[in-house]
Amino acid sequence: MTASNLANAPRIMTETDLGMNKRIVKLAPSILAADFARLGEQVAEAEQAGADRIHIDVMDGHFVPNLSIGAPIVASLRRVTRLPLETHLMISDPDFFLEEFVDAGSDSFLVHWEGNANLHRTVQSIKALGKGAGVAINPATPAAVLEEILQDIEQVLIMTVNPGFGHQHFIPTTLPKIRRVRLMIEKVKSGCDLEVDGGIDPESAPLAVAAGANVLVAGTAIFGENDEVAAAMDRLRASINQWEKQPQSV
Ligand code: DX5
Ligand code: ZN
Repeated sequence: MTASNLANAPRIMTETDLGMNKRIVKLAPSILAADFARLGEQVAEAEQAGADRIHIDVMDGHFVPNLSIGAPIVASLRRVTRLPLETHLMISDPDFFLEEFVDAGSDSFLVHWEGNANLHRTVQSIKALGKGAGVAINPATPAAVLEEILQDIEQVLIMTVNPGFGHQHFIPTTLPKIRRVRLMIEKVKSGCDLEVDGGIDPESAPLAVAAGANVLVAGTAIFGENDEVAAAMDRLRASINQWEKQPQSV
């Protein structure tokens, strides 16, 4: 094989290509599963237990068939935690609400590719407000839609359930997509976070991490157990560490 042939030959992907040997997994507890009567307390527990950011799900009953919370909750949380507040907008017109959430204290936004005819503009508006921008894609949306926007964002969110509700089962067919997005990120923007959201528990977390995720959103697995938040977070971390000791193919 000549040198030029060699350069063009397909290469087997290594763990380095997948960013696996340098990845630190971050936890983003989702307050959707918290006890709202004790929200401040539960977020403080998550912060003490080493959460990296707090994930806030905003739903409008139109983009997804459920209602959740708005900017006042973000403002209240801003007063009780120093953790970054990432705001997952599952709403039809995210552009109209960005400033309100920024004023309330949001540090970053996750906006959906689906239903947004001007995604680049939305991303630029978020950046103009000085906040972190991430793009979320639903289970049936292909990884390829991220190609042209990846260089402009700090985060990709792969929905591992259909958005709208907590406490659903992880959809395993999203795993090959997580791998594809990880490869894309390593090629185009290696600092970009790859976050997964939905049905993340000690069983699915190691699968998602092995596929390339470095941020895990978890609601039920952290706040939904009749247990301490710290113990639940430890169980998630332990599941990942166990996997790392005994790598398996997914
Ligand atoms: C679902 C939300 C998730 C939800 C995940 O639409 O985006 O963030 O809170 O909840 P669990 O971890 O219970 O699946
Ligand atoms: Zn979410």
